This record gives sequence, C-alpha cells and structure tokens, in this order.
Amino acid sequence: MSAVAPLIEIRDLARTFGGGRTIFGTRKPQLTALRGVSLDLVQGETLGIVGESGCGKSTLARMLVGLERPTSGAIRLDGEDLSSSGTKALARRVQYVFQDPVSSLNPRQTIREILEAPMRHLLGLGRAEREARLKKLVDDVNLRPEFLERYPHEFSGGQAQRIGIARALAAEPDVVVLDEPVSALDVSVQAQVLNLLDRLKRERGLTYVFISHDLAVVESVATRVAVMYFGAVVETAPARKMFQAPLHPYTKLLIDSAPVPNRKRERPAGDTGELPDPYDPPPGCPFAARCPRVEADCREAMPPLDVKDLGEGHRAACIHPLSRQ
Ligand SMILES: Nc1ncnc2c1ncn2[C@@H]1O[C@H](COP(=O)(O)OP(=O)(O)O)[C@@H](O)[C@H]1O
Ligand code: SF4
Ligand SMILES: [Mg+2]
Repeated sequence: MSAVAPLIEIRDLARTFGGGRTIFGTRKPQLTALRGVSLDLVQGETLGIVGESGCGKSTLARMLVGLERPTSGAIRLDGEDLSSSGTKALARRVQYVFQDPVSSLNPRQTIREILEAPMRHLLGLGRAEREARLKKLVDDVNLRPEFLERYPHEFSGGQAQRIGIARALAAEPDVVVLDEPVSALDVSVQAQVLNLLDRLKRERGLTYVFISHDLAVVESVATRVAVMYFGAVVETAPARKMFQAPLHPYTKLLIDSAPVPNRKRERPAGDTGELPDPYDPPPGCPFAARCPRVEADCREAMPPLDVKDLGEGHRAACIHPLSRQ
C-alpha cells in the first residue's frame, strides 16, 4: 500500500443497466456493466485503464465525472463523497476528455463559448479574467487565438481533441479522465496529442486516468495500470511490473496480442475471445472460458483482486496466476 493518502478512492463500485419491470409486470433484462471495482488514484500519477471494448471502462469513467450514477459503491475525492449533494465544487476538480473529439463539442457554439462556459459556471470568473485565461489556455494547447471565433466543424480531429483538452482544463481540475483520447486520431496525430498531455500534466501538476483498449498507448503513458475484464479489475500493478511479469492470464493474453511492428494484431492460437453473457454473469472467474490455466475451483466464486498480492500494489484476481520468471 502507498503511504500517501489517495486523491480519489473508488470503493466497490457497481453499475447495472435495465432491470425492473415492464408495465405488464414482466421482468426487464438487467445488464451488469461494472461489478465491484475498487481502485485508488494517487496525486500525480497516470493510472492507465486497459481492457477490451465493452469491459466497462467508459462506465467507470463516466461515474468518476458524475455523468453516470453508481448502482452501489462510492467514489471519494479527498475523503468526501463525490455523489453527495452540494458537490459542484468537488465535481469541478475531476474533468472528462471524450473519445470522439468533434462530436463531443457543441456544433452551434464557437470555441470561445465552449471554453468560457466552465470558467463562467464552474469558476464564476468575470469577463476580464476569462479573457486572460482564454488566451493562455489556447496558447497552452498549441491553438491559434483566431480559432476562438470558429466553430467545431472547422477543425481536424487532432485540433478538436486539443479543444476538448482545453475545455477540460478550463475548469482548473486536479484530475483529468481521458477516455480513449487518441483512439479516433491518426497515428501521427496521436503522438502530438500524447506529448501535449504529458507537458500539460507536468506544467499543471495534474493527475490522469488514461483509458484505452490499446495496450501500447497505455504502456507509453501510464505509471500504473489497471486491467479490466468483464466489468471488474483483474490486475493492478506499477506499469513496468505489469508489462514485465503479468500475473493474470488475461493480462498476458493482452500483452501477447498487442501489435508489434510488421505484425498484424492477432488473437493467440486457441483463444475464442468469448465473453460471458452480461445479462447472466457466471458465478466464478469470468475469464474461465478462455483461460489456459483454468481449474475446477475457478468456476466456484469470482476471485477477489487481492487473492494474489505481491505487494507494491501488484495484485491479481486469479487463483492460479502466472509465476514470475
Ligand atoms: N447506457 C447504457 N445502457 C445499457 N447498457 C450500457 C449503457 N452504457 C454501457 N452499457 C453496456 O455496459 C457495458 C460496458 O460498456 P462501456 O463502459 O461502454 O465499455 P468500454 O468503454 O470498456 O467499451 C457494455 O456491455 C455496454 O453495452
Ligand atoms: S482464476 Fe482460474 S480461470 Fe480465472 S484467470 Fe485465474 S486461472 Fe484462469
Ligand atoms: Mg469506452
């Protein structure tokens, strides 16, 4: 465990969609998107969250910034519950950058209006101060001042994402949740945006939650990594340890199937890629159907994250983890 008090504590966070009954009294199907996620976020780190599409990354991200409410569990910022009433000041401190840069910006607003809104509504700044901050903000994200009077559709994907980043920073947050921030961009533009994010983090003392399905991108930015599978965190570790000696067979599969130069991304031989039914989750380890190390006890109950704990925050939800070479 880290001696530093975490900036954000996520505890047993769960989210289901659907459920309840129709007007005729029949039960509506209920989908489990997140199943008891607990994570700490420490000031100054970049926590990478990685996992295949549909594993619950965005649901977690949206709850962190208050766009989605948990079905159960808690998120605390500096010890205070983020979902309690009167938390506007708290909520401002955690901002979101969306995956799709252009569609996340209101097409009817100029960039000036988009960037001024958080300064006005979340910080309560007057006109003169907003103007001064706007100038600095566009400069900080490498945009030209004349862009302020233009509309989102006039920008490329990379420029639009820099506007999205500027909008998140306009609220002067402590934490930025970046949900697949470069996945929609060309590879050459990805590197520029990643460099920009790195510089902004250092200049502003930010803490990042960096979400991606792309392991290579997470490896290049994260100080610590959490691997998600089927709505749960299955392994956490300092980034270097995770990539050198993963404990969970799913993490190993992700690493083995990550693209390397001159090789197409491919699924390792024998892997079906089959996910359990989110409407009817199995009682045991959700990776059992794909796992080369599966044994009968894996199917009895969902292994908790600390069933294997190597210390220094390296934990895995696996009963028969990979041994360290
Ligand atoms: N608003 C919603 N209504 C119903 N199901 C949803 C909703 N949002 C997400 N889901 C489901 O929850 C699961 C997790 O989705 P998501 O968090 O978007 O995953 P990821 O970001 O990792 O791709 C998926 O099965 C998805 O279909
Ligand atoms: S608990 Fe069992 S099935 Fe699940 S990942 Fe570990 S070895 Fe595989
Ligand atoms: Mg997503």
